Amino acid sequence: TGKFTFDPGYTSTASCESQITFIDGGEGTLLYRGYPIEQLAENTDFIETAYLLLEGELPTSEQCAEFRNNITYHTMVHEHFNKFFDGFRRDAHPMAIMCGAVGALSAFYHDSTDINDPQARKVAVHRMIAKMPTIAAMAYKYTVGQPFVYPRNDLGYTENFLNMCFSVPAEDYEINKTLADALDKIFILHMDHEQNASTSTVRLAGSSGANPFACIAAGIACLWGPAHGGANEAALNMLMEIGSVDKIPEYIGRAKDKSDPFRLMGFGHRVYKNYDPRAKVMQKASHEVLDAVGISDPLLDVAKELERIALEDEYFVEKKLYPNIDFYSGITLRAMGFPPSMFTPLFALARTVGWIAQWREMLEDPNQKIGRPRQIYTGAAKRDFVPMNQR
Ligand code: CMC
Repeated sequence: TGKFTFDPGYTSTASCESQITFIDGGEGTLLYRGYPIEQLAENTDFIETAYLLLEGELPTSEQCAEFRNNITYHTMVHEHFNKFFDGFRRDAHPMAIMCGAVGALSAFYHDSTDINDPQARKVAVHRMIAKMPTIAAMAYKYTVGQPFVYPRNDLGYTENFLNMCFSVPAEDYEINKTLADALDKIFILHMDHEQNASTSTVRLAGSSGANPFACIAAGIACLWGPAHGGANEAALNMLMEIGSVDKIPEYIGRAKDKSDPFRLMGFGHRVYKNYDPRAKVMQKASHEVLDAVGISDPLLDVAKELERIALEDEYFVEKKLYPNIDFYSGITLRAMGFPPSMFTPLFALARTVGWIAQWREMLEDPNQKIGRPRQIYTGAAKRDFVPMNQR
């Protein structure tokens, strides 16, 4: 037994066939159902791109309206679900709350847990996409000690999310179109990224027949890590730690020093070895937002200078370590008023579309079986038990 291909980190193993997202890392191409991400970010909104990822084609205006209705129908969470939050400490990380709260949806919506029923699957897809903004906003409100804001179905998907995060009882949040559009773009850019760690986690969890809410909770847990979705928070924390342009050389030096575990957060990508097409769109959106809110953020100067150095420095050029999407999204989200701890929950909200689309694709694949990687065993050979008094 045990002659298996050894592929640590799965750098050359395809785990599935998929028709959803295509990446060419060398060319810097990202396509959702064949459409370039740049065109989708420029011309569509959250709902339209979500429909495309789920159904495979861009919606007609009727299909789009119907899908929008289906999503807004499910934006509320069960009233008892609100009490669930009281069990968390106020200083809980919103991602900790998200892992628990999304997993708990399985206990509230039993009619969506029959994965063999296509209609139940469809409702589960709508519920997940509809409830994620509500839950992410609740996690935020809970940690800042403010009352929850109920969803408003007269608003667009992203505007409603901003309203749930930033309205307070005495004062409705005034929606700024530039900010709402930029956030919509951030969501579109983050929606899917083929078989990344969290999506593979969702598929693996789903392959055992687990219910969709449990699978998405598994994806959220995986996304939390700083090498994956947690990088946007880590990137901003790093910019704050660097603080000013004169400190940059010290950090560049540390990033290159092999005896120092420090890495430049927001740089490098497993797949994009030339540039990250999402980072290009994000860079532009980031500047638009900063202009709109009139903030001249000193961290933006640090970011720009880091970007300039990294794009010229031999170490980064040779290793093809370009700024990735997280590098720019952090600064933009900060300008919108989100604290760094909310960056990864926002990523989770957007990636839910990809996760749930991939989950459904997997279940509908005739070759679907439980995911069960093998291993190369390197432990002790067979040996006899030694009683404790003889050890
Ligand atoms: N700063 C300094 N050196 C780096 C960095 C970095 N950010 N990233 C990679 N390297 C070096 C690394 O030390 C290694 O050097 P050597 O070959 O001399 O040992 C070489 O580049 C290759 O690195 P690797 O870890 O083998 O590359 P990988 O493809 O496994 O890692 C990565 C990709 C994204 C995990 C890594 O670049 C990294 O840790 N970046 C910082 C965290 C980050 O921004 N993550 C977000 C990724 S994009 C969002 C998402 O899709 O989830």
